[in-house]
Amino acid sequence: MKALVLSGGEGTRLRPFTYSMAKQLVPVANKPVLVHCLENLRDIGIEDVGVIVGGHAAQIEATVGDGSRLGLRLTYIRQEAPLGLAHCVALAADFLGDDDFVMYLGDNVLADGIAEAAEAFHERRPDAQVLVTKVADPRQYGVAEVDADSKVLALVEKPSAPRSDLAVIGVYFFTAAVHEAVRAIEPSARGELEITDAIQHLVDAGRTVTAREYEGYWKDTGKIDDLLECNREILARIAGTAADREGAEVDAESILQGPVVLGPGARVVRSKLTGPLVIGAGSVITGSSVGPYTAVGRDCVLEDSGVEDSIILEGAAIKNVRDLQSCVIGRWAQVQKPVTAASGSRLIIGDHTRAEVMA
Ligand code: DAU
Repeated sequence: MKALVLSGGEGTRLRPFTYSMAKQLVPVANKPVLVHCLENLRDIGIEDVGVIVGGHAAQIEATVGDGSRLGLRLTYIRQEAPLGLAHCVALAADFLGDDDFVMYLGDNVLADGIAEAAEAFHERRPDAQVLVTKVADPRQYGVAEVDADSKVLALVEKPSAPRSDLAVIGVYFFTAAVHEAVRAIEPSARGELEITDAIQHLVDAGRTVTAREYEGYWKDTGKIDDLLECNREILARIAGTAADREGAEVDAESILQGPVVLGPGARVVRSKLTGPLVIGAGSVITGSSVGPYTAVGRDCVLEDSGVEDSIILEGAAIKNVRDLQSCVIGRWAQVQKPVTAASGSRLIIGDHTRAEVMA
């Protein structure tokens, strides 16, 4: 069995970060979402993975390379424009051949892996198997209608009046029957070749399409609040024992509580760290209070500051600012108190940035 990972698209809902980075490379608990996904594929014994890439192709290749570090063989497939999930399958037809495959949306996190789902597909071997989960507002997802025998009766992409509360999760198992289906469908009203339409085509053609409820933790990280929630959930699972702090320095005046992971070369001086949290290699935390539920990337500087429930990316600096909560701070960004007491707030922020400033 092969895998197809979808790592193109525009990521407009994650601006401004996606102006300069692929949304699948945004980290949760200091690991790019795409790496969480590739690890899940490796864990079910997959070796060959086709990776669909768009405008941020070079960055994705620089991060995961040929896949050998993860025990995978990656083949990059370029998509010139985000023309839809089924378009990705069509582009990958030569790579996939007649093999069964699992298609994995590179911005989805399934924290409990996909082993049970893969086993169910192998045992029952339907033409397609989708994973579903109950959600409060299904209108932002593909929605499945399923019978008592787990057979899919209908699938609709982001319906305004959903006929069930079962959202389709971004991991799909297919036999080669899907190739005829993606060739048969037309672009939707939003101009994309929808995978939901291709699967509906299989249903209409009398093929067996099953749905399996995912029992574990799942999140589509395509929006800021979902990204932060996912960060909290993954951090809640870290061990953060002394072994996770080798090569880091913590001075005698600092206090560590709960699971704390410190990368090599990280330094903690006169600070309070409340886990679960993770701080990347080379970061320096001085006179600050960090956590819980915070991921600080590598080479960051925090001075006399306080931050919790946040994601701070590589190289960012925060100085003399307390009470930061639920923030996502981009690479090499600087956040600090005004330089002189007399000056007011000064913001130099990029397009589509959001700042909530104390009045
Ligand atoms: O997260 C689950 C949802 O994912 C499903 O419930 C929906 O049925 C499914 O259509 C999808 O909806 P999204 O609106 O979240 O899809 P998004 O545009 O975010 O794309 C999902 C992934 O595929 C993302 O990693 C970007 C990538 N992609 C997307 C498109 C449209 C590509 O690589 N190429 C594309 O053309």
